[in-house]
Amino acid sequence: MILGEYPQVAVVGTGYVGTVVAAGLAATGQPVVGLETDRYKLAYLRSGKVPFYEPQLQDLLATGLDLGRLSFTDDFVHAMARSDVVFLCVGTPEGNGGHPDTRAVEAAARAVCKAGHTGQVIVTKSTVPVGTGHLLASIMEEHGFPPAVVSNPEFLREGSAVDDFLHPNRIVLGSDNDVALRKVLEVYSPILRGDTSADASRRPPALVTTDLVTAETIKYASNAFLATKISFINEIASICEQLGADVSSVATAVGLDSRIGPDFLEAGIGWGGSCFGKDLTALVTLAAQHFYDAPLLRATIEVNRRQRSLPIDRLQRALHDVNGRRVAMLGLSFKPETDDIRDSPAVELAARLADLGAHVTAYDPMVKSLPGRHSVTIAPGPYDAADGAHAVVIATQWPEFLSLDLALLRERMLGNLLVDGRNMFDPQTVAEAGLVYESVGRSPSLNQHGNALRQPPAMPVATANNIDPLPAFKLAFDGLGA
Ligand code: UGA
Repeated sequence: MILGEYPQVAVVGTGYVGTVVAAGLAATGQPVVGLETDRYKLAYLRSGKVPFYEPQLQDLLATGLDLGRLSFTDDFVHAMARSDVVFLCVGTPEGNGGHPDTRAVEAAARAVCKAGHTGQVIVTKSTVPVGTGHLLASIMEEHGFPPAVVSNPEFLREGSAVDDFLHPNRIVLGSDNDVALRKVLEVYSPILRGDTSADASRRPPALVTTDLVTAETIKYASNAFLATKISFINEIASICEQLGADVSSVATAVGLDSRIGPDFLEAGIGWGGSCFGKDLTALVTLAAQHFYDAPLLRATIEVNRRQRSLPIDRLQRALHDVNGRRVAMLGLSFKPETDDIRDSPAVELAARLADLGAHVTAYDPMVKSLPGRHSVTIAPGPYDAADGAHAVVIATQWPEFLSLDLALLRERMLGNLLVDGRNMFDPQTVAEAGLVYESVGRSPSLNQHGNALRQPPAMPVATANNIDPLPAFKLAFDGLGA
């Protein structure tokens, strides 16, 4: 690829999203400069290191730097003078009253305008409240520039962000300015052509072009749907427990319907991370501002809140009181393949157990400290965490937990309770290791004996000899007017 063929790209903010965007665009062959004001982070990135864990990112970054396509600076004036397309990837943490705090985005836009030039395009990659694009357009106008703002929501998942960036299933670009939109389209042309895909059989991404407000809404709608899908299966899991059904089989069978799909149907102790909770709250708040109540989204949040308490209920039921008990937690990150603990169900659980008087010892393959949480001890390995524990809780589904020697785990424990918050294990295997197994959406009988051993529940049948149907049947018949 010949340098200079594309508009020079600047990426403002080098957190999870910004670093992936900068290194990913550099990998498509175009010159990219990353702006970072934090000196420590800047030095780190310049030396080819990523200050957090994300698979493949370190290599991509180092390659970009080596080839001279990627650079990092804190010099806004110099970087803006050379850049035609500026991606804003600064943080939008949860602010007051459910609204994301967009001060960093606004400040970055002002800094771009101060140092920028006519013809420059601002791209919002940070998740911003709907309407922020218009605000940024007015900031450009204030500085005497024609408004050229494009919303380009990111759909990267932590743990597979590099692959998601280079092989996305869709790219969404929203703008009220066609020239600006075409410039950003040019930046994405290698990815849209499928040039970045090592696998020729993979379909190139779909392109959705739309207006600013719609693109901003697409981001919120996507995350809201994913979170709702998880809360849905978690609610089904709770119903399964009452019915004696197995939620894993339910999810598999339901997911085979191509209208539903198999992803995001894993029942467990709920969703977390820096995005779902913040984005759902922002959408509910935004809807309320426009006099819409959003009951489904509120229920999605509520089901998730309840789900996070599930291991505590299980522990209290089995141990009577967690106060003074030793609990080992396996997993702290909000999901596997990341060291991110923002809004992690696992961390919340550890903290709540510690508050209830439990002695919590945790192990996570990537998280080696919990700042500010001195009541939780970090162990160097899973068996060390289990030493003398009354119960072990699986809180994050790290693949390495699948190869745990459960008999050894049991040996190291004082008690014999395994609460699997991520349904990682086969109940029968756990029982064979001498452990009492509690999981999510699988009834106690199923947990003890495994699905294969269960008899189907007896169905009451109304026959001539059985003319007194069960109350539930009566209700159903009544409902049908029978
Ligand atoms: C999510 C979206 O998946 C991305 O598309 C989006 O770009 C990103 O938010 C964002 O807005 O930046 P991410 O937060 O990295 O990505 O993580 P997910 O893979 O979506 O998982 C979120 C949570 O749901 C995790 O706690 C995970 O353990 C949980 N989860 C996921 C379940 O409990 N069950 C499932 O079946 C799937």
